[in-house]
This record gives sequence, structure tokens and C-alpha cells, in this order.
Amino acid sequence: MDSLNVTLLAFLAGFIFLYQRWSRPILWSTKQLISRKPPSTRPTTNTSASSTHGVFKEPDFPSDWLVGTQTFELEKRAIFSKTWICLVHRSRFHKPGDYQSFSLAGFPLFLILSKDGEVRAFHNVCRHRAYTITKKESGSTPVLGCHYHGWSYNTFGALIKAPHFDGVRGFDKAQNGLFQISAFTSGSGFVFVNLEVATPAGGPDVGLLDAFAGRGGLVPRNTSPWVAGESIEAGFNWKLGVKLLHLDTQRLEKKVAPTPWLANLVTRFQRRQDNCVLFPTASVATIHGTRWWYTINLLPLAPEKTVVRCDLHCSERTSKAQVDKAMEKLMLLLQENIREIEVEYRTLTDASRESYMMSVSRESEDHQTAILERLQEHVKLEKAQGNPIHPAMRKRRENPQFEQAEQLCQSLDCVASAGTDISSNALAW
Ligand code: FES
Repeated sequence: MDSLNVTLLAFLAGFIFLYQRWSRPILWSTKQLISRKPPSTRPTTNTSASSTHGVFKEPDFPSDWLVGTQTFELEKRAIFSKTWICLVHRSRFHKPGDYQSFSLAGFPLFLILSKDGEVRAFHNVCRHRAYTITKKESGSTPVLGCHYHGWSYNTFGALIKAPHFDGVRGFDKAQNGLFQISAFTSGSGFVFVNLEVATPAGGPDVGLLDAFAGRGGLVPRNTSPWVAGESIEAGFNWKLGVKLLHLDTQRLEKKVAPTPWLANLVTRFQRRQDNCVLFPTASVATIHGTRWWYTINLLPLAPEKTVVRCDLHCSERTSKAQVDKAMEKLMLLLQENIREIEVEYRTLTDASRESYMMSVSRESEDHQTAILERLQEHVKLEKAQGNPIHPAMRKRRENPQFEQAEQLCQSLDCVASAGTDISSNALAW
């Protein structure tokens, strides 16, 4: 190689180095989508609301923001019972009967591809005695059978078989299908659910999400299919886990780059992709300069426990070895961040709220404020009504025909072998 080529290569390398150093802080940005955000309310100084829930002493966040059971219960009513929540991508479903199960803040639910090609969502609770229908995280079946007493449902959630009830006059199968949950699939293939019993007005606002997906080459939706996914149970409150929605994957770019360094030169000069945060618990992001993109989902389990779900997608055909390598690198980075947050959470449990707020990024602080506003809005409604409001609660069945058939079922001792007492009251969440 002559000296001219060496000089040119050195110049090129220096130029690229400087470009990347300058461009990152400027071009890396995030957008947060808050779907159908209700009118914002100012923090209230109302002492009645404060004493009921132990929250909202203006302008502070409640003292039990990251640890409290009362706050967590309020979040279940105010956020997880009535907000559009992005859970999964449509590419996870291939044939009718494919399903994905979730536990979202105490609500067991599953999504299934119905025979008409639509993804539907249901509470993962048998209508007979509330036994769990899908036990696995994912699977495929054209008929969802309850193992307790044999009730079976099709992919539309309709009850198709109910041993001991079939011959009972007046027992109506059509009234005993699975409890359906509102579901919405965006143009770019992201599936949202909303547990509110009253049909939510309109779907989630996905304009920015679809625009982001379009810029990132994630549409049409079948061009960037799911290739791998993992879940980690983490020891922190989901609101602290919001930091993971802004995961910085900069150092992964070279490790999972699909092609040699020089072949990626062009993409290095393109504008860096934003990540896209989907309030309250999800984000979609690309790994810049690569064909990989991923989603992060936070699934609250308890005030101090959160399942972190990570799904990897690829916009080109790829080998299993490459998928494994990319997923391994992504999960290592995610685990590292999770461990850091767990350590922080253990420290914060006894720390002042001020030290917590100082530790969060601007994006996370905006996110916390948006959550607080949702809680305040709901408390206002509850105060006006004089009772806690549970938007996802289903009414307990009060039906003479069902009771008659149930007595027959019991007389046939069809529950004897189950060994677990599951009351129909379990439906009254
Ligand atoms: S058949 Fe499901 S609980 Fe009885």
C-alpha cells in the first residue's frame, strides 16, 4: 500500500471518528408517546385524597412512590386497568391458535391469533371457577381447554364445551365465553391492550410510533419479524425500571453489526434513530447502524418486583448463530443495567425522595410526572364517587341457571380431584 493510500485511509478514519464523537450527543434523542393522555391535573393539596391513599402532597411525589402497596394498588386501578399498553409485536403470531401469556400488575391475560387473522386478548381466567387457561408463556392450540373441569374455548374466546352443563336447560354457552379485553394492532404491528370494561373511546394514539417505525425500516410489519426474546424478573419497582426504556445500546453497534465495518460506512453517516417510548411500560428502539431492533416491556408483579421483557427483531434474513450472538450481547447489556437499578432500588428504599429524583434522567422524570398525573386524575374521580373505582372489574355472575348447573357439577364431584379451592369470587378483582 503506497503512502497516498495510507494517508487517505488515515484521513477517512479520523473524519469518521470526529463525526461520531460530535454527532452522538446531538442526534441521539428520545420521543415519548403517551397514548390518549387524559387532561393533566395539577397536584392537589386536598388532605382527604392524601389521607386516603398516602399520596400527593404538592409538589412532591408520595413518600412510598417506589415501595408502597397502596400506591401499587392505585396504579392498578388508575393506569393498568384503563390505559392502552403495548405488549407484543404481531410477528409473534403465525397461525391461528398461537398465543402469548402475560401477567400485568396482577391481571393474568393472554393474546391469541383468532381464525380470522385478528389478534384478540382475554383474561386468562376460566369462566367456570377462575382456573388459569394458558399455563405457558407462549404456545399454540386451536382449542383452549381448562384442565380443571374441561370447559373449552375456541380462538374467539367462545365457550364450546362445558361438561355437566351442556344438558342444563337455560344454561347459555354464549354468556360464558372468556372475558375479552380490548386489543388494537397498529399499522406497524404493535399490539396494545386496554383492560377497561367499558369499551375505551378510540384506540391508542400510534401516529408517532408508526412514523418512527417507518423511518427505522420496521414497516411493513412483516419485514422485521421477531427472532428472539427473554424475560428477567427484577427486584425493583416498575417506575424505577422506566430507565430501561431509554437503554443506551451505543456500545452494541459494532458488536452486533451485520456486515463488515466498511460496509456500514453509509449507515454511520445517516441520522441516528430515535428510540420511541410507549407510555407507560414499553419502548421500541433500533441498534443504530445494524439491522436489529428491539422492544423492552416492563410487567409489574408487585411493588418491589418487575418482569423485564426484551424482544429482538431483525429486518433481514439472518442465521440462528447471528441471532444468538445479538441476543446474548443485548441481554448482557440489559442485565448489567438491571443489576445497577436493583442496587439503586435497595438503596432508595430508605432514602429520601430528593436523592431519588436527582438520580433520574430528564426523560424518566417526565415519565414519573405523567404517571403521577394519571394517579391524581383517578383519585379525583374516586373522591367524587366516594368509592375506589376498578375500571377492569368484571361483575360476579348471578345467574340461576349457572347456579343450578354448578350444583349438579358439585354433586357429580367433578371438583374432587383438583384439590384447590378456587372461589368464583376470584373474578372480582
Ligand atoms: S372448567 Fe375451568 S375452572 Fe372448572
